Amino acid sequence: MAESTASLAGQVVVVIGGSAGIGLETARQARESGARVVITGRDRERLEKAAAGIGAESAVTLDLGEPGRLEQVFAELPQELDHILVGGSGPFYAPLAELDLDDAERFMNQHLVGSLRIARLCIGRVRAGGSLTFISGTGARRPGVGLVIAAIATAAQSAIVANAAVELAPIRVNTVAAGFVDTPLSARLLGDQLEERRAGLRATLPIRRVVGPEDVAALVVHLMTNTALTGATYDVDGGQQLIPG
Ligand SMILES: NC(=O)c1ccc[n+]([C@@H]2O[C@H](COP(=O)([O-])OP(=O)(O)OC[C@H]3O[C@@H](n4cnc5c(N)ncnc54)[C@H](OP(=O)(O)O)[C@@H]3O)[C@@H](O)[C@H]2O)c1
Repeated sequence: MAESTASLAGQVVVVIGGSAGIGLETARQARESGARVVITGRDRERLEKAAAGIGAESAVTLDLGEPGRLEQVFAELPQELDHILVGGSGPFYAPLAELDLDDAERFMNQHLVGSLRIARLCIGRVRAGGSLTFISGTGARRPGVGLVIAAIATAAQSAIVANAAVELAPIRVNTVAAGFVDTPLSARLLGDQLEERRAGLRATLPIRRVVGPEDVAALVVHLMTNTALTGATYDVDGGQQLIPG
């Protein structure tokens, strides 16, 4: 019988990039479902505040830009893990003509090789039927000026999870691809245009409201608990990719 509904009681859920936005909301919902939650982030103060706010079991500093640290962090986690969410470091937008190739290479390395590194660290640590989920985006599926690196990363992420799902089985591996989500990252990127963007989305999105981190988190928690799901990319964008702009 399918093991699906709701409870994460007693399960160990690790949220990389869990001190804000989508990661923090996922950590909160996992806690509400009874999970033992470990969150990571770079800024220690924000991390500890977030951990205390949701009752996380522990909070570990980690910068995804430092691959060696990733291995250390895994070594410190409980031996058997149930679910891992990889949120983290945000998009990379730059027109080709202005692209700093060293920055682009660092970004690709962190996102693509970094995803492989995390997938490999799950072997022998995430239990059978447990899950690894990455966050990706829908915004760079349509070509546009400044989107080339984001587009490559988005396409590659789907290829990574499909292949990793086959190789890591019975660990399940998926990507959640989000459109605009109303998080601190979006607030930073948009600055004083945030309100205008929210209003535009409310008026034009098929769902007639703005997608929030809780919407994305609900999908991630579903992927943790629905053991039929692996190897795929799940969109949560309120229909944003169906409309112009
Ligand atoms: N918001 C959107 O509209 C949207 C849309 C599509 C995809 N996404 C993707 O979803 C993921 C989460 O986005 P969000 O909007 O929730 O961002 P957010 O609100 O900025 O939260 C990001 C979290 O990740 C941590 N983090 C950031 N950079 C990191 C790094 N280099 N290494 C380790 N941890 C890092 C942050 O803490 P510290 O800063 O303290 O490290 C924080 O806990 C990102 O990958 C983003 O690109 C977001």
